[in-house]
Amino acid sequence: MEFHVITLFPEMFAALDAGLIGRARQQGTIAVRTHNLREFGLGNYRQVDDTPYGGGSGMVMRPEPIAAAIDAATAERPDVLKILTTPQGERFDQPMAREFVQHRGGLLFIAGRYEGVDERIHALVDREISIGDYVLSGGEMASMVVIEAVARLVPGVVGNPESLEEESFGNGNLLEYPQYTRPEEFRGMRVPEILLSGDHGKIRAWREAEALRRTTRRRPELVVNKRKS
Ligand code: 6GU
Repeated sequence: MEFHVITLFPEMFAALDAGLIGRARQQGTIAVRTHNLREFGLGNYRQVDDTPYGGGSGMVMRPEPIAAAIDAATAERPDVLKILTTPQGERFDQPMAREFVQHRGGLLFIAGRYEGVDERIHALVDREISIGDYVLSGGEMASMVVIEAVARLVPGVVGNPESLEEESFGNGNLLEYPQYTRPEEFRGMRVPEILLSGDHGKIRAWREAEALRRTTRRRPELVVNKRKS
């Protein structure tokens, strides 16, 4: 699967050289390519933003450089899904990650800056997404979050596909049950006896109950949502 990003800060994407995603890129299971928006800037100064019409603070990204960068990227990949990252976007979540991974043409992110992009850019993209209700200076980190979440759903990226099933939000929309490994006792805290019992039926039941209890306490809205769907 291919991921493309239009950004003023391609160097930030070095974070995707490491770990699971880095390995998947080396193996060719996924590809990540950045497109430097500055190269599509206007005039000798390669200008990409300007002051807002009507006044106000901050700068707004001009539409022409973004349109030119989208045109260049889509000339090579016409079926790519064009995604603008913006705090005003639809909230990204695991169901959306599952939807995106089905998109055979790959994903193209446009990393917007926090102050905003010219409203007319919205006509050029397929989706607008936010990763949560907090402020980031630009969409780079948000794009990387989405790439990470989608890439690990690409077959072959995660070594053991069963671990995808069991994870929080992957199955049943509940948080994960508590996990323990050695030692049996750590600073006076013991591993629950049931996990040492070898009774797999009881262990499964305990884990389901713990996952539900934890979700009800920490994220009650997920339990309500589960009933709705
Ligand atoms: Cl997608 N962009 C920015 N700038 N801030 C955000 C965000 C995106 N999602 C949450 N905060």
